[in-house]
Amino acid sequence: MHFRTRAVHVGNEKDPATGAVVPPIHVASTFVQPGAGEWGEFDYARSGSPTRKALETTVASLEAGSHALAYASGMSATHGAMMLLNAGDHIVAGSDIYGGTYRLLHKILNRNGVSVSLAKSVDLQAFEAAFNDKTRLAWIESPGNPLMTITDIAACAEIAHRHGALLAVDNTFATPVLTRPLELGADIVMHSATKYLGGHSDALGGMLVVADQELHDALYFVQNSTGAVMGSFATFLIARGLKTLELRVREQSRSALFLAHQLSQHPRVSRVLYPGLESHPGHDLAGRQMDGAFGAMMSFELSGNYEETQRVAESTRLFQLAVSLGAVESLIEQPASMSHASYDAADRQTHGIVDGLIRLSVGLEHPDDLWEDLQQAIAAEDKLA
Ligand SMILES: Cc1ncc(COP(=O)(O)O)c(C=O)c1O
Repeated sequence: MHFRTRAVHVGNEKDPATGAVVPPIHVASTFVQPGAGEWGEFDYARSGSPTRKALETTVASLEAGSHALAYASGMSATHGAMMLLNAGDHIVAGSDIYGGTYRLLHKILNRNGVSVSLAKSVDLQAFEAAFNDKTRLAWIESPGNPLMTITDIAACAEIAHRHGALLAVDNTFATPVLTRPLELGADIVMHSATKYLGGHSDALGGMLVVADQELHDALYFVQNSTGAVMGSFATFLIARGLKTLELRVREQSRSALFLAHQLSQHPRVSRVLYPGLESHPGHDLAGRQMDGAFGAMMSFELSGNYEETQRVAESTRLFQLAVSLGAVESLIEQPASMSHASYDAADRQTHGIVDGLIRLSVGLEHPDDLWEDLQQAIAAEDKLA
C-alpha cells in the first residue's frame, strides 16, 4: 500500500468491541491479568498500552521499520537511544543538530562518562576522522538544524558500521514522507513527534524506529526501566495527525520553495539556506535522498546585526515568534537567541549559526500571505533603522 493509505489504515483497525472506525483512547494505567503470575498482552501502562501500540504500528510502517517506540518527548526518545551506551563510550554527532541534542550530549551524557565529538557530517572525511575505537553511536540530522545542510545518510551508515557503531538519524525535519533513513542503512530513526508527525502544535512526543528485533528489545528495556513513555491523549493526537502527514508535508514544502525563491531575490537577504534551491550545496544529494520535495524548513541570513535580526523576527504577523516547527501555523525564530541558545557561543560561530540567521517553519497558510508578511517585517525594520 502507498504511504498515504498506510497512514490512514495501518494501526487504525476498527474497534472489535463496537465497530468504531477510530480506535478508542485507552487511559487505563493497569490491566487485569489472566491469573497470578500470568501475563496478557498488556499489564501496566508504562510497559505498553493499546493506544501506544497503535501509534507505534503506524509509525513503524511509515518509516519502513519493524518496531517503533513512543516516548514522552523527542528529547526522551533521543535520551532513550543514548542510554544504550556505557561510561567510556564515545558518540560522533553532526555539528548541525538540534540545540537540545547538543545540550544533552555536552551537559548530561558527559557527566555519565560518555564523550562526544562534533563533526561536519556533510564532509564525510571529517565525519569519519571523528570516530575512535570507543565510538558506539553516530547521530546525524538531514536536513540539518538550523543550516539545512544535507548529509549523505547511506554513506554515514557505511562509515558508522565500518567502525562498529550504530547510526541514528533525527528525521524530524524530513519526515518519512521525504526520507526513510532505515532504507538507507541507518539503524535508529528518531522523531520529535511534537513536530510534523502531530502537526498541530498541540501534543508533545517522541519516537524511535528500528528494523531489528534485538535493537528494539534493548531500547524497550531502557524505556520500560526509565519510564519516559508517551501519554494516551498525546498519542491519540499524534496518531490523528499522521493521517494527513503526507498532504501537509507536500503542500508546506511547495510553499517553502516559493518563499525560498522570493527571499533569494530580496535585497536585504544575503543568503537563503533551502535544499530546494539549485544554489544550495546539498541540492543534488537532497534530490536523490528526499522523495519529490525538499521540506518546509528554511533559514535565511539578513544583512543585519543581532538586534536588527531580532526586530524582523518580532515584526511578522502570521509567522509567530516561537521555537518548535512542523505544524500548520508558520513560525519564525532567531536560532542564536532561541533554538540554539544552548550551544556555546564559540561553537555557534564555528558552525555558522550567525546572529543574522532567521529560521522559518512554513505552515499551511496561503504562500502569498506568508510572503507579504515577511516583506512587511523586513520593511518595518528598514524604517526603524
Ligand atoms: C530536530 C529536533 N530534534 C529533536 C527535538 C526535541 O524534541 P522535543 O521538543 O519533542 O523533546 C526538536 C525540538 O525542537 C527538534 O527540532
